[in-house]
Amino acid sequence: MEISELFRLDGRVALVTGSAQGLGKDIALTLAQAGASLILADLAVAAETAKQVEAVGAKCISIQADISDEKAVEKLARRSIKEYGKVDVLVNNAGISQLGFIPTEESSIEEWDRVIGVNLRGTFLCCKRIGKEMIKSGGGSIVNVSTTAGINGVPRAPAYCASKAGVNLLTKSLALEWARYHVRVNVVAPHYLETALSEGLRASEKAYTGLVKQIPLRRFGKTSEIVGAVLFLASGASSYMTGSVVVVDGGYLAQ
Ligand SMILES: NC(=O)c1ccc[n+]([C@@H]2O[C@H](COP(=O)([O-])OP(=O)(O)OC[C@H]3O[C@@H](n4cnc5c(N)ncnc54)[C@H](O)[C@@H]3O)[C@@H](O)[C@H]2O)c1
Repeated sequence: MEISELFRLDGRVALVTGSAQGLGKDIALTLAQAGASLILADLAVAAETAKQVEAVGAKCISIQADISDEKAVEKLARRSIKEYGKVDVLVNNAGISQLGFIPTEESSIEEWDRVIGVNLRGTFLCCKRIGKEMIKSGGGSIVNVSTTAGINGVPRAPAYCASKAGVNLLTKSLALEWARYHVRVNVVAPHYLETALSEGLRASEKAYTGLVKQIPLRRFGKTSEIVGAVLFLASGASSYMTGSVVVVDGGYLAQ
């Protein structure tokens, strides 16, 4: 196979959650540039992403959906199948962090449920429902977006860490279960990125400098530095990989 063809997604349909902004927006655009038709799923209207995806000549539909709501995920799946007949690639990117770094003994159960609800339950619901379609159609690739905080602990962020560690093991469990159906399931785990999610951390010069000092490449990552790993796992270039956690972290976990 030609090197350039390894990463092509021509004729494939890709669903990206959380694609109205941040990392999900760049992932959607990258998959479109690789030739995929897109389904943009987000709580918010993904109008700007749709505009950019269509500008590269890719077909695209936008669906507003809360991934933590089973009925909404059912609707998302039905609409996707109605429009395209199949989903080849699912990127579970939508995720939220906890509201501030509150001591766990003072944190609320509502906050725990909220973070676990989107990051873990939401990823599970999308895997379950879209995975079913992939099994029916003969295969697919699921890429779950986790984080280094799902591998190493971060104090005062138990729900975020536990939810993403859950995503890592959900991925491995599904990889084993669905290999026989040619559905591959992998993780991309970034460290801190320059997006809205990390705005609070970057707002404080002291906090930011402290965090950057712990990263061998001495800076937060850019979304453009993560999308290549997602495309790799989505495409045939990674056809012998399933159940893997691909870390993209400026060297953070090498220490
Ligand atoms: N930014 C970082 O530092 C960082 C680091 C490691 C991993 N990540 C992970 O990357 C992913 C993307 O993060 P980001 O930085 O682009 O965040 P972001 O806040 O910029 O974007 C997240 C998107 O997800 C959508 N979303 C939130 N809840 C949703 C729900 N219930 N249903 C559907 N859509 C929902 C939001 O509307 C938004 O468009 C997340 O899973 C996050 O945990 C981010």
